[in-house]
Amino acid sequence: MHLKAKVVVVTGGGAGIGRALCRRFAAEGAKAIVVADVHAASAAQVADEVGGTAVPCDVSREADVIGLVQETIARHGAIDLFCSNAGIAVNGDEHTPDAEWARCWDVNVMAHVYAARAVVPHMLERGSGYLLQTVSAAGLLTHPQSATYAVTKHASLAFAEWLSMTYGDRGIVVSALCPQGVRTAMLRRAEAEGTPRSFLLDSALEPEQVADDVVKGIEAERFLILPHSEVAEYVRRKAADHDRWLRGMRRLASNT
Ligand SMILES: NC(=O)c1ccc[n+]([C@@H]2O[C@H](COP(=O)([O-])OP(=O)(O)OC[C@H]3O[C@@H](n4cnc5c(N)ncnc54)[C@H](O)[C@@H]3O)[C@@H](O)[C@H]2O)c1
Repeated sequence: MHLKAKVVVVTGGGAGIGRALCRRFAAEGAKAIVVADVHAASAAQVADEVGGTAVPCDVSREADVIGLVQETIARHGAIDLFCSNAGIAVNGDEHTPDAEWARCWDVNVMAHVYAARAVVPHMLERGSGYLLQTVSAAGLLTHPQSATYAVTKHASLAFAEWLSMTYGDRGIVVSALCPQGVRTAMLRRAEAEGTPRSFLLDSALEPEQVADDVVKGIEAERFLILPHSEVAEYVRRKAADHDRWLRGMRRLASNT
């Protein structure tokens, strides 16, 4: 799909990867860009910059996501591309309180379910539509420093795969964006939160680079968008020998 003249929604569009997507979609000639973010002021700032519309929205609340979809369709007549991008990273393990696990689950998983519930019927009715879910390489390869992130990102990748299996022959294209480190506030926070220097920093990409790969991935209608191409090789190695891969990940965990 080409972005020109398309109506696009980006959640978490007020900062980081989402903001870079909004800017890039504007440069590609999108007809309307709806910038949705729980941080209303950032959404407004990005919307101003790209000539789009800001919608304050907490993606972990279904009513907000329904409102976002309904408001966009009422204003622009359609949604061509819905980027379910907002996500949170919390360093967690089995001792992390249930409430924190639930918060990660709601933002990193249920938000995609709410988006699909709200927008898929509209796309099926039109016979076309595009869903981009921002997952993470952690959805393919786990994350040695955060069980809460790894588990919820695996779940969100499974949901994106399921959407593609279920609706791919009915006009809906699904892509899962799975980068490793990206230089945004999220990566800076992860570093500041006290874990030793993140192994992700050395190969971290700028959000603009990721947005460039997203545009190419959407044009090619590719399911997996991997801004770090080495991730594909890591996934092959994991599939070839799970025990060897786990030994390698233990080494990585003990060195970080
Ligand atoms: N930065 C990385 O290294 C990295 C790597 C892989 C995947 N990701 C994923 O990319 C996505 C974007 O991350 P980022 O690095 O741009 O993060 P970021 O923290 O820089 O920006 C996230 C944006 O989402 C918004 N947001 C957070 N919770 C929200 C909610 N409940 N409802 C609506 N908006 C909300 C924030 O206000 C912020 O504007 C996330 O899904 C993240 O898991 C990030």
